[in-house]
Amino acid sequence: MEFFLDTADIGEIRKALAWGILDGVTTNPSLVAKTGRRFEDVKRDILALVPGPVSLEVTAEDTAGMMEQAELLAAEGDQVVVKIPLTPAGIAAVVQCTELGIRTNVTLCFSANQALIAAKAGATYISPFVGRLDDIGHDGMQLVEEILEVYEAYGFKTKVLAASLRHPLHVLQAAKMGAHVGTMPFKTMEQLFHHPLTDLGLQRFLEDWRKVPGQS
Ligand code: G3P
Repeated sequence: MEFFLDTADIGEIRKALAWGILDGVTTNPSLVAKTGRRFEDVKRDILALVPGPVSLEVTAEDTAGMMEQAELLAAEGDQVVVKIPLTPAGIAAVVQCTELGIRTNVTLCFSANQALIAAKAGATYISPFVGRLDDIGHDGMQLVEEILEVYEAYGFKTKVLAASLRHPLHVLQAAKMGAHVGTMPFKTMEQLFHHPLTDLGLQRFLEDWRKVPGQS
């Protein structure tokens, strides 16, 4: 499973890169707004740091506008993946991006039928929003399972990018289902490392090590 960080915060990206397990980054307009920085600056900094796939979202609402933004974004670097919302205009833009060889991440997916449409359009990634479905009392992870089943049935190459993951259990469930990618906030990625028995065990090892003659 590939690990993507869902952030536009450069400090968080630097920390996760230092761990050596970061495969890519996803951003969205809300995450960029949260930084308080200009999009141009955020984009430049992320692309300079991250060699893996970086999802940058279009904000136009019509196909022509999306395509104009998509071509500009794609020209910024080989690692750019253009994030496009799952609307009729967005899907038409995905079809055009596919024809032009521009990689896409279709976002705001809340049903398996939407995911089927994205795959037919040739999307590189589909992003089902797990946490946001949980928020309204649905089973977000069931959507990931359904999409994997539908894609498997037809051999679609579109990768399932489990998004809106909010806690370590979400990551584990997505991994057990075989989601190709999980994108998560920095806090969730950091939580994956921790287990109280690891901390306790390490503390004991270090205490015992100090008892070994010749050590201090
Ligand atoms: O970037 C898309 C998605 O991961 C957003 O997550 O927590 O805002 O629902 P969230």
